[in-house]
Amino acid sequence: MIPSHLRPLLLFTLLLFGVFLNPVSLGASDAESGIAYVGESRCKACHNIPKTGLFHDDWAATAHARAFDALTEDERRNPQCLECHTTGYGAPGGFVSLAETPKMANVQCESCHGPGAEHLASAIRNMRNPAAVVPPPTVPDEMNCRGCHNERSPTWREDRYVAPNGKKSGFNYEMAFPRAAHVDVFRALGQDDPDPYQPRVRVPCE
Ligand code: HEC
Ligand code: HEC
Ligand code: HEC
Ligand code: HEC
Repeated sequence: MIPSHLRPLLLFTLLLFGVFLNPVSLGASDAESGIAYVGESRCKACHNIPKTGLFHDDWAATAHARAFDALTEDERRNPQCLECHTTGYGAPGGFVSLAETPKMANVQCESCHGPGAEHLASAIRNMRNPAAVVPPPTVPDEMNCRGCHNERSPTWREDRYVAPNGKKSGFNYEMAFPRAAHVDVFRALGQDDPDPYQPRVRVPCE
């Protein structure tokens, strides 16, 4: 169940915090093991500070933050829609139903950055040492977007995006990126970078 590339990291975490000595907490939750989803409300405290970036406000203004609202009453119970219109559907900590997991509706931070439990726990433990914080597991790229932005979407249209050269496509990463990847936040931080593929300067939470 745990992807093999994460296993050494998981073991390290367990050893580091002595969790392995305590079978109760080991079995207690996937949240401890770092592969669980926690929800956007848990990210806001640290990632919505003017000095280090209003990432949460930025996300809240995107279509992703309203992706669940687009579904009708019936569609909100249809597994075929929930996969792309909620966060972590079917995974530990992820969306189950509106009644059980209302905070996991919509396309949230963790849909792009990966399940955040380990990052969250690590950030709380290392409040005074941001450099030691384990980053979220996924660095979002075009493949990540195309996990949802593909022809399996019932609203997919081959001419949704029209590039400056006239080329039409159902998804155009370069054109979609500025509307989903916090470009205005980086700009406000003075980290304007015309190339979306470059990793940015890190923004520690204080
Ligand atoms: C307790 C504070 C805190 C919370 C809560 C928190 N983070 Fe972070 N986050 C940090 C710190 C500190 C860093 C490290 C900054 C650095 O590298 O200097 C960071 C870095 C990141 C990065 C950049 C990683 C990289 O590779 O540079 C992303 C993305 C991120 N957090 C997303 C999230 C998400 C998503 C959540 C909610 C699931 C979240 N954070 C919750 C403090 C927090
Ligand atoms: C978990 C699934 C998922 C992921 C991952 C995802 N999206 Fe989306 N995206 C959606 C859904 C669902 C909508 C429709 C929301 C609505 O309008 O209600 C959407 C809407 C959008 C829109 C506005 C509608 C459009 O296509 O013109 C943009 C732009 C966009 N996404 C860009 C991105 C980019 C860039 C990435 C990757 C960095 C990404 N998305 C990753 C599910 C996803
Ligand atoms: C493979 C991922 C995926 C699945 C599965 C999916 N959607 Fe979506 N949905 C998207 C994306 C991405 C968008 C943004 C437009 C586009 O590219 O289709 C979207 C947009 C929409 C919109 C338009 C929102 C708006 O504000 O314009 C509606 C409505 C919608 N989806 C309904 C559904 C329903 C109903 C189902 C289930 C039958 C479903 N979707 C299943 C990915 C998905
Ligand atoms: C549609 C996908 C998507 C969603 C949703 C999303 N992000 Fe991001 N995020 C990105 C991408 C792509 C980047 C990298 C931008 C770059 O490096 O040019 C990024 C970068 C970041 C960074 C900075 C990383 C660095 O290198 O400094 C932080 C912090 C962050 N996101 C936090 C969040 C938080 C918190 C949320 C939810 C409130 C969120 N993101 C929602 C796609 C997303």
